Amino acid sequence: NKIMRKGIILLGGMGKRFLPATSIINKHLIPIVDRPMFHFSLSTLMLAGIKVINIVSNNETIKLIKKSLGNGNKYGLNLSYTIQEKPRGIPEGISLSKKFIGKSNFALMLGDNFFYSSNLSNTLTKISRSHKNTLVTYKVSNPSEFGVLIQKRNKIKKIIEKPKKFYSDLVVTGLYFYENEVVNLLKYIKPSRRKELEITDLNNIINKKKKLYHYELERGSVWLDSGTPENHIKTTEFVRIIEERTNKKIGLIEEVAFQKGFISKNSLKKIIKTTNVSNTNLIYLKKIVK
Ligand code: DAU
Repeated sequence: NKIMRKGIILLGGMGKRFLPATSIINKHLIPIVDRPMFHFSLSTLMLAGIKVINIVSNNETIKLIKKSLGNGNKYGLNLSYTIQEKPRGIPEGISLSKKFIGKSNFALMLGDNFFYSSNLSNTLTKISRSHKNTLVTYKVSNPSEFGVLIQKRNKIKKIIEKPKKFYSDLVVTGLYFYENEVVNLLKYIKPSRRKELEITDLNNIINKKKKLYHYELERGSVWLDSGTPENHIKTTEFVRIIEERTNKKIGLIEEVAFQKGFISKNSLKKIIKTTNVSNTNLIYLKKIVK
């Protein structure tokens, strides 16, 4: 059913820029404060109201995540898993998820992206419920590190992947809302110079053949990409500072599941009793179910 948008989280590759750490574990499992990096992506999809989620990664990583989250029922989720043997590009994550997608619209979320804003849940839920292809965009000071969105008369003209030249400071984040039909456009893209299928190529094709929209996150919103050790530290610092100051946690999936109504208070109580949560998180969650 089209109204129930599904979600895909990409945790492919190990993350070369994190070697030697990633010769042992996948980058998306490295903690930000005390949560694995990908929990922030997972909670972002949950905030958008998405419960049916496919996790794409290599076999070893999937085994580890399955052990920890299983089918997600505990969190009111329906989790499934698909193996991507090698990181051949973000759009391959969509191709590999075709069966999972079925006839639904879907959201695609990169496992190293981080979002924080005061009404993120409302914003993302609205986007998710609309039947449109929508990119989430954000203004940054270092646009050449991302896909840059170029507009003409308020419409998307095109997206350029990591341009050396300055075009605009508006970039495409790693959260994409797609209509089901996008699956049929995958066949038009070819590997790029870096020998990967590029999500930017797919987005440019959508823009030509169908309609492509973008939602620029408002001022006061924060988008970070934790894909390098330096940026990972920045995200960790941001989360630590906000959490300490506000006494509220970011990306704690148990809390999000409860706040979004995916699970009842009783279920949360059960989770608290039976799951591996640290003492600080335990005290925090207990306050919520009081
Ligand atoms: O973070 C946003 C940026 O993500 C966009 O602005 C760019 O347009 C987009 O191309 C992408 O750029 P990156 O160079 O950061 O993508 P990267 O190859 O580093 O992969 C990003 C995430 O996607 C990472 O968490 C791993 C996952 N991934 C990537 C590939 C290539 C997969 O799961 N499978 C893959 O095959």
